[in-house]
Amino acid sequence: MQPKPAELDARATAIGAGPLLQVSGLGKRYGALPVFSGVSLQIAAGEFVALRGESGVGKSTLLNCIAGLDRADEGSVSLAGRPVHQLPEPEQARLRRELLGFVFQAFHVLPHLSVADNIGLPLMLLGRPDPARVQQMLDDVGMAALGGRMPSQLSGGQLQRVAIARALVHRPPLILADEPTGNLDRDTADKVFALMLQRARERGLAFVLVTHDAALAARCDRSLRMEAGRLLQPETEGV
Ligand SMILES: Nc1ncnc2c1ncn2[C@@H]1O[C@H](COP(=O)(O)OP(=O)(O)O)[C@@H](O)[C@H]1O
Ligand SMILES: [Mg+2]
Repeated sequence: MQPKPAELDARATAIGAGPLLQVSGLGKRYGALPVFSGVSLQIAAGEFVALRGESGVGKSTLLNCIAGLDRADEGSVSLAGRPVHQLPEPEQARLRRELLGFVFQAFHVLPHLSVADNIGLPLMLLGRPDPARVQQMLDDVGMAALGGRMPSQLSGGQLQRVAIARALVHRPPLILADEPTGNLDRDTADKVFALMLQRARERGLAFVLVTHDAALAARCDRSLRMEAGRLLQPETEGV
């Protein structure tokens, strides 16, 4: 039988049994200074998990280590049952591109690309450009006529909607969102969050949402807290 392309394998595995994300004993130091250690967590397909904790506690570092934007010093990360760090670098990159979407606090929309090209970037990187899908995403985030604009011509709320569309366009089973509404006013934050929730639910996507906002966290299925370099599991929280 013909072997399937790796990306189809990854998607098939993601839909199968077992956690979508499994983090085990993860530790990160900057020099001698530990940021966190012994961090373990599981995320199931379609699950929404809030990640909370004081500023500087290591939430962004943890998300970056999961996404491969930063490198952990110990422990392991498995995506769809595959141990990411044990794979050769190109395969790691492909697996992450296929399975993850990332929404940053500061949007990180690329200034020299049009709105449509920003949203289409993950599809380009996967070698699957799809202008119709990009237009569908523009419609979905209420920016149907704005694909040709440059990012400098958008408001903060619109930029974050572009970032959300970009994280969702390739339908990755897991979205990592690092304070995605932190730079937005309350009203816009609520709208952007509601949109993200709705789109993710419709498509059965899981996400990890870093937020300081108790009201947003309460709308997730589960809430985790980082404190003093540890991830507190729900049973040890709030005592
Ligand atoms: N590149 C770096 N070099 C040294 N220390 C860093 C670096 N990046 C982050 N840190 C430190 O790691 C800790 C966790 O930071 P961060 O993950 O950004 O926290 P949070 O997202 O929870 O606010 C902080 O004490 C921060 O100063
Ligand atoms: Mg942070």
